[in-house]
Amino acid sequence: MNKNMKIIVVEDKIQLGRTTSQMILDFINSKPIPVLGLATGSTPESTYQFLVEDYQKNHTDWSHVISFNLDEYLGLTMDDKQSYRYFMNYKLFNHININKDNTFIPLSICDVESFANQYDQMILEKGGIDLQLLGIGENGHIGFNEPPADFESLTSIVDLVPSTIKANSRFFATIDQVPVKAISMGIKSILNAKKIILIANGENKAQAIKQLVDGKIDSTWPCTALRMHNDVIVIIDKKAASLLK
Ligand code: GLP
Repeated sequence: MNKNMKIIVVEDKIQLGRTTSQMILDFINSKPIPVLGLATGSTPESTYQFLVEDYQKNHTDWSHVISFNLDEYLGLTMDDKQSYRYFMNYKLFNHININKDNTFIPLSICDVESFANQYDQMILEKGGIDLQLLGIGENGHIGFNEPPADFESLTSIVDLVPSTIKANSRFFATIDQVPVKAISMGIKSILNAKKIILIANGENKAQAIKQLVDGKIDSTWPCTALRMHNDVIVIIDKKAASLLK
């Protein structure tokens, strides 16, 4: 195991959300201008729910927070219910006092190539990501960096592999509606974050978590790039941890 990687095993998805949201709150309360990297998918949902509940109860101030999301499907408008912009607004941003002008999500409707080239620069101009939240795909992808991943990649247009299209089809009416391309921060963009929290729950993530924690650095498991980072916290439920030594 990488000594720079801290593993926290929690009971279930609820505890996962509770633990992760507390770390995010401690972080945003600790800096004058916190820059957060955010993720979509079902895994961070409980984290966002706790953050919204915290805002309702404690009115934690988000007005100073800047956020950058990892990725977006290609070709969906911002108000498309399947877009990650819609997801973030609906699950988090609409319910807290973050300034939406300070929430950045890769744009998928524009000159995407040139936008992709600008995204890492935009992050840099805000001082870089201090804390990056990550989920993980069953095949070990982070963001939408599919295997075999280029560990030097910055934000770019990527093709989704059939297993990801199949896994994400659960959010769409039919599999044909799942976009086959996305714009995603690259592995290098992710590794540029000062601190990373990767979260996972469920048996279907156990193999990817085993590779992340115990496997060797290998582009066929994109998540293993995180072993090259010096400050990674992995928060997982017992099922996702079930194959660990
Ligand atoms: C998508 C996202 C990833 C996410 C992964 C896992 O493909 N691009 O950022 O980590 O799915 O999603 P879930 O949390 O729903 O399992």
